Amino acid sequence: MKINLYFTPGEFQEEDLRDSTAVVVDVLRASTTICYALKNRCREIIPAAEVEEAVRLARQWQADDVLLCGEREGQRIEGFDLGNSPLEYKRSVVEDKILVHSSTNGSFVLVKAKASLKTYVAGFVNLQAVVKALLENGESVAILCAGKLGRFSIEDAVCAGMIVKSLQQHDAKIQIADSAVAAKILFEKYSSNILGLLQNCEHGRYLISLGLMKDLEVCAQVSTIDVVPTYRDGVIKKNMR
Ligand code: MLT
Repeated sequence: MKINLYFTPGEFQEEDLRDSTAVVVDVLRASTTICYALKNRCREIIPAAEVEEAVRLARQWQADDVLLCGEREGQRIEGFDLGNSPLEYKRSVVEDKILVHSSTNGSFVLVKAKASLKTYVAGFVNLQAVVKALLENGESVAILCAGKLGRFSIEDAVCAGMIVKSLQQHDAKIQIADSAVAAKILFEKYSSNILGLLQNCEHGRYLISLGLMKDLEVCAQVSTIDVVPTYRDGVIKKNMR
């Protein structure tokens, strides 16, 4: 097993993922929201990189069966049913619904990762579940940090570093790229205060300015959800190993 790690979507090309399991990391908040939605039994999630595409995709189903979900600049897209706060994705709201989901960065990376063998979605909340699935697979791993508008996001890098460290703890022989070494060092620096990291990073400060501090508390929880969101053939479902 080899671990590659990309800090921003611009660093990788589709062919870099061909023989790997991709892991998309978008801690604030797409990964966390997707975990909550699947934990609360939505039927499936369809990522859409653009708003217009999301609206077009949603028309495939009866209005009662589908929810339009997502954010731009951290706030619910006008006319959509849900924004991108994990706390909106309650069982009473999402159970048995098809969610068409468009977030600024997370959806873009997911769609770009389609050439991988399979793609998992990871945040802090489901980290150990994803690590366990990766170890069971035994395939090489390409960790894809969503970042923000093409730029580095430290919270994604720290979460990615935690995945690297956890994998290495189970298999010391894993070969890791220099970027994975750097991410692991970042994790080791921030591991004792994940919430503090989220409160002080760029996007976390912006979300606090929108009154979304509760979202940071949710996104900072570690391995509280035993779900492995798996993206394949344009659809995210739960635990498709
Ligand atoms: C993203 O896709 O960058 C995030 O999920 C945006 C957000 O939810 O604030």
